[in-house]
Amino acid sequence: MINSVVEKALNDQINAELYSAYLYLSMAAALEDMGLPGFANWTRIQNQEETFHAMKMYDFIIERSGRVKLQAIAGPPTEWKNVMTVFEEILKHEQHVTALINGLMDTAIEQKDHATNMFMQWFVTEQVEEEKNVEEVIRQLSLAQESKGALFLLDKEMATRTFTPPAAQGGA
Ligand code: FEO
Repeated sequence: MINSVVEKALNDQINAELYSAYLYLSMAAALEDMGLPGFANWTRIQNQEETFHAMKMYDFIIERSGRVKLQAIAGPPTEWKNVMTVFEEILKHEQHVTALINGLMDTAIEQKDHATNMFMQWFVTEQVEEEKNVEEVIRQLSLAQESKGALFLLDKEMATRTFTPPAAQGGA
């Protein structure tokens, strides 16, 4: 049985993950509007990843005989100046999520909840990957700079990203 402090922290994180999913979906719409369907695809895949993160926590609470309590999801921004500002915001957002995940891990440790501690280790690793992925996109965008041709090619590359089903990630 999960204790109420950890249960509340996990429920709050489910909300943060669902907000992330919503934010990426909003970004996908803005990127489509900028004529960048490949970058929009990249953020759509992120939307699926974030929903998976939320559901992983959802299932864990149930597995521990806790209670999932969904909260209101805040409205995300809808406008960005250009593709670079979208990805700069993604990096800032993921750094914020990393801090939240670290906080949740601290709570699990304080509460001596070893099962949640072990469960959260997957998310700690995942955040390293998430930050690395977006830093890579920002690096490529910086190289493309003002070249419309380079941006076009990069957009084509972003279109190839697919969602890896959770079971195949080994983290389900
Ligand atoms: Fe669920 Fe992008 O971290």
